[in-house]
Amino acid sequence: MTLNTIMAVKFPVRILRYKPSGSSNQGIMKNGLIARALRPRCAVIVHPQFTEPEAALRAAGHPVRRVILRPRDGFRLAGAAIPPEADLVVIGNPTNPTSALHPAAGLVAHARPGRVLVIDEAFMDGVPGEPESLAGCAGVPGLLVVRSLTETWGLAGLRIGYVLGPAALLGRLRSAQPLWPVSTPALAAARACSSARAVAEAATLARAAGLGLAANRRTRASDVRRFRRFPS
Ligand SMILES: Cc1ncc(COP(=O)(O)O)c(C=O)c1O
Repeated sequence: MTLNTIMAVKFPVRILRYKPSGSSNQGIMKNGLIARALRPRCAVIVHPQFTEPEAALRAAGHPVRRVILRPRDGFRLAGAAIPPEADLVVIGNPTNPTSALHPAAGLVAHARPGRVLVIDEAFMDGVPGEPESLAGCAGVPGLLVVRSLTETWGLAGLRIGYVLGPAALLGRLRSAQPLWPVSTPALAAARACSSARAVAEAATLARAAGLGLAANRRTRASDVRRFRRFPS
């Protein structure tokens, strides 16, 4: 079974094109695949978010601008002032560390010709049903979706992840990729984590985590109600 068919199990019918990376999700960003293959004149990172994409772009010598989402808006993307001249935009969905889950339509609204829109979906398989995932979304200009096997499966050491996107863009990434970037053990792990059984297991874990979270929130809310207020 090739990685192509592996990913087709994970994204039945929705997957169009993919490219495995030897260095995991952040390998795609950090070890320079995106930063080296693309030469953005105006890269924008939507913050708060994981710090590595910005670090990777800066290390590759690209100027980076930040768009900061505000807590009082619930870290929502709606209304975010992404500069029109941005030719590379990086957004996490759901976002580490805010856990904001942006609606897919709101993300797609930031795509335009001449811009690469990178959506880091490292944590998406923790969202039951992945309703806001763009992993199978075709026809959005410049859309790259970066996925990870690290978060659900704890495979950080194997350094394997994958990126989904239009063939031309993946070709540009491929040209910046080192030789033999994916090890056989990593491929075997990707295969195991993407089997129908593993996908079902991940979905069960995501649902259980969601229920746990809801229970925790209820507990915290009742704990908070037990506190007495003192004027400061
Ligand atoms: C948002 C985000 N993307 C990517 C990663 C790393 O993914 P990988 O292990 O596949 O490089 C992390 C790790 O914490 C993360 O928080």
